[in-house]
Amino acid sequence: MRSRAWFDTPEYYGFSRRAWLRSEGFSSAVFDGRPIIGLCNSWSELTNCNASLRPIADAVKRGVWMAGGFPLEFPVMSLAEMLMKPTAMLFRNLMSMEVEESIRANPLDAVMLLSGCDKTTPAMLMGAASADVPAMLLTSGPMLAGDWHGRKLGAGTDGRKLFDLYRAGEIDQAAMDEVECALGRSQGHCTVMGTASTMAILAEALGMSPSGSAAIPAPDSRRLAMAEEAGRRIVDLAREDLRPSRILTRAAFENALRVQMAIGGSTNAVVHLLAIAGRAGVPLTLDDFDRISRETPWLVNLKPSGEYLMEDFYSAGGVPAVLRELLPQLHTDALTVSGKTVGESIQAARCHNHDVIRERTKPLSTEGGTAILYGNLAPDGAVIKPTAASPELLQHRGRALVFESRAELMEKVDSDLLPVDAQTVLVMKSGGPKGGPGMPEWGQIPLPKKLLRQGVRDMVRLSDARMSGTSFGTVVLHISPESAVGGPLALVETGDEIQLDVAGRRIDLLVPDAELQSRRAKWQPPAAAYVRGYGKLFLDHVEQANLGCDFDFLKPR
Ligand code: FES
Repeated sequence: MRSRAWFDTPEYYGFSRRAWLRSEGFSSAVFDGRPIIGLCNSWSELTNCNASLRPIADAVKRGVWMAGGFPLEFPVMSLAEMLMKPTAMLFRNLMSMEVEESIRANPLDAVMLLSGCDKTTPAMLMGAASADVPAMLLTSGPMLAGDWHGRKLGAGTDGRKLFDLYRAGEIDQAAMDEVECALGRSQGHCTVMGTASTMAILAEALGMSPSGSAAIPAPDSRRLAMAEEAGRRIVDLAREDLRPSRILTRAAFENALRVQMAIGGSTNAVVHLLAIAGRAGVPLTLDDFDRISRETPWLVNLKPSGEYLMEDFYSAGGVPAVLRELLPQLHTDALTVSGKTVGESIQAARCHNHDVIRERTKPLSTEGGTAILYGNLAPDGAVIKPTAASPELLQHRGRALVFESRAELMEKVDSDLLPVDAQTVLVMKSGGPKGGPGMPEWGQIPLPKKLLRQGVRDMVRLSDARMSGTSFGTVVLHISPESAVGGPLALVETGDEIQLDVAGRRIDLLVPDAELQSRRAKWQPPAAAYVRGYGKLFLDHVEQANLGCDFDFLKPR
């Protein structure tokens, strides 16, 4: 046991470490050689999505004691998608470093990672992959569906749709006040196939979470029972020394990519999976996403691409039922935290509602939910979610209306004088990893009010930003290299023609090379957003979106 190096030493510090821990009221029995299990908890009242992790931690501890372990809970920073400015993504790498160093510095034989909101799950997995101490991840679970006059609402997809209707003048302030308190009826993360749901599901598909755990609703008693069971299992995980490096293999990532396509997962999963794979030393590229997307059917009918919510997904059979449908395309011998292979874990899996989880012979689409585009506008790649886009816009040619920044966009987008029609391509710059900074979720550029009033509900929109997993629309994201480092996006001007061809996987700026070279000669990089502190570290070391936005110095040497 790793922890023995802290406590079973004859010199003063072996004695003093035991004495100082015993000051918390533990008897000498906790030092009888049992595994010490850390509970790495991102609980926070500032992160509503993680606010239910306290009772989950207690349930894990019950299980750890039952199995003969010694649980010790510790806090790590929490990242609230809704509250943190300029964006929670700016801090994903910081949290991952805190997780890694907290594990490495302490006498832990295994770690239960407790996460929920979007960035907390990838940050935990990145840190655990780097520390490579036996680890398992449990999430807070999705909140209950919103309920507004009997209409089921999914946070935040339906909130966005209703807010657009409010902007168009179709519903009033009193209705929005009702929606505000009807949207989230319990603690837990967003209940559509947003980033939190996607990353919880992918953690299970990677083998890092217990089979069947990702989709259990946050307030459901079965989540606490699952946590207790996971607490019992993690004690064996420590004894078996089953480390993330044995679970996070190339086969595991290919399984996760299959699942990402089958669930119509959030586009944010692209940057997070690239970053986790980078920490695990597993080669993974955007081309892997596109190849697997073309081969994998879209099966899960959840908002924002489909109709249902996470509680429906859980009732239908959750992740095991999806894996069962994907069986012919899976690496069934990939190992999971249960100690069993993926194939063994899903032997008893059944689907209970084929409208929510389609059979692979009757998919929602024969291709998956993430397409990678290249072209002279995105030499290193860009991402689109065709399942959440308007089919008639997937082939589109239109004139650009360019906003140099999010601030300019927000200032002008609702002006009645905006030179825009439904064919216009809205382009926003300075939303990338360095430009945002932090690659905020600004990619679902709001539609101009004058077009909303005309009934327009989607347009082609381009940026180097990300988009919330709860969002929808014909939105090209993660354009790499980003505008702030002089990527071709920086050279686009209002009036330029842009061609989107999703079937051909192309995004092109139809401007002669000579003209682009002349614009490049005049281009000036923007002033740095930070000159000190963590912000400067971020700007100096963050990689581009096509590499996962991790820090260059955090990858294994
Ligand atoms: Fe935390 Fe949506 S805001 S999961």
